Amino acid sequence: MLELQRIAKRLGGVQALSGVSFQVRAGTIAGLIGPNGAGKTTTLNVINGLVRPDSGSVLFESQPIAGLRPHAISRLGIGRMLQDPRVFAEMRVLDNVMLAFPGQAGENPLVALFGGARYRAEEARLRSEALELLELVGLAGRADELAGRLSYGQQRLLSLARCLATRARLLLLDEPTVGVNAEIVARIQDVLRDLVRRHGKTILLVEHNMDVVMSLSDKVIVLLGEVIAAGCPQDIQRDEQVLDLYLGTSVDKRSAISHQPSASG
Ligand SMILES: Nc1ncnc2c1ncn2[C@@H]1O[C@H](COP(=O)(O)OP(=O)(O)OP(=O)(O)O)[C@@H](O)[C@H]1O
Ligand SMILES: [Mg+2]
Repeated sequence: MLELQRIAKRLGGVQALSGVSFQVRAGTIAGLIGPNGAGKTTTLNVINGLVRPDSGSVLFESQPIAGLRPHAISRLGIGRMLQDPRVFAEMRVLDNVMLAFPGQAGENPLVALFGGARYRAEEARLRSEALELLELVGLAGRADELAGRLSYGQQRLLSLARCLATRARLLLLDEPTVGVNAEIVARIQDVLRDLVRRHGKTILLVEHNMDVVMSLSDKVIVLLGEVIAAGCPQDIQRDEQVLDLYLGTSVDKRSAISHQPSASG
C-alpha cells in the first residue's frame, strides 16, 4: 500500500533522513521505532506532505505522492494523528468528529441556510456516522459533552475518531499512547487492532512503548536516519544490530525491547 524509496531529508543542518526505504502492506500494522531524533516524525511528515523530501519517492497504492500538498495527500486516503491531540475543547465531542468529515455541504453557510430537507438529511447521516466512530473508540457515551472535559487519553481517542472521519485508509499515528494511562493504552490497542481486522485499515505506528509496538505490529521497522532493521517483532527483538545500535550493548537493556527474558540470560 505504501512504499518509501531512498528518502533523504536535511533539516536545519542535520541529515534527518538518509536513504529511508520500507514498505507497508495493506491491512497490516507496521511499527516504526528508533531513539529520539531518529527521524520517525520526519518520516511521517514526508509521507503526508508536511515535509518535502530532498530526494527519493513515496508511492501510495503505486502512485507517486512525494511533493503533493498535505490536503491532496489526505484526500487520497492518508490520515494523520499528530503527537498532540488537537481537539476543539470548546466544542462538543460529536461536533469535533463531524467537523473532520471531508467536503460537507455545511461548509457553505448558504447551503446550511437554504439547503432545506436535503441539508438536514445529510446532516443526520453524518451525525449517525460520527456516532458510529465515537462508538468505535469507546466515546459514544460522551458525545454531547465538551471535548475539553475529556481526559488527555480520551482526547487522543477523539483525535483518532477525527482521523477516521477523514475516511483515511492508511493511518499515520505518532505516539498515540504517550502520556496516557494504562487503561486507555489498552483501549487504544484494542481500537487499532479492530481498525485493521474489522475495518480494513492499514496503520503506520510510531511508538515508544515497546510492549505496544511488539504486540500490535505485523512488522517492525527500526529507524536511525536510515532503516537499520525491519522484520517481524520476534526477529527484531533478537536482532543484534538493533540491540547494539538502538538500545546499547548490555544484556540488561534487552528488557527494554523484549518483556520476555532473553535465552542468553
Ligand atoms: N524543523 C526542524 N529543524 C531542524 N531540525 C529538525 C527539524 N525537525 C526535526 N529536526 C531534526 O531532525 C532529526 C529527526 O527528528 P524527528 O523529529 O523526525 O525525530 P523522531 O524520531 O520523531 O524523534 P522523537 O522520538 O523525539 O519524536 C532530529 O535530529 C531533529 O533534531
Ligand atoms: Mg517524533
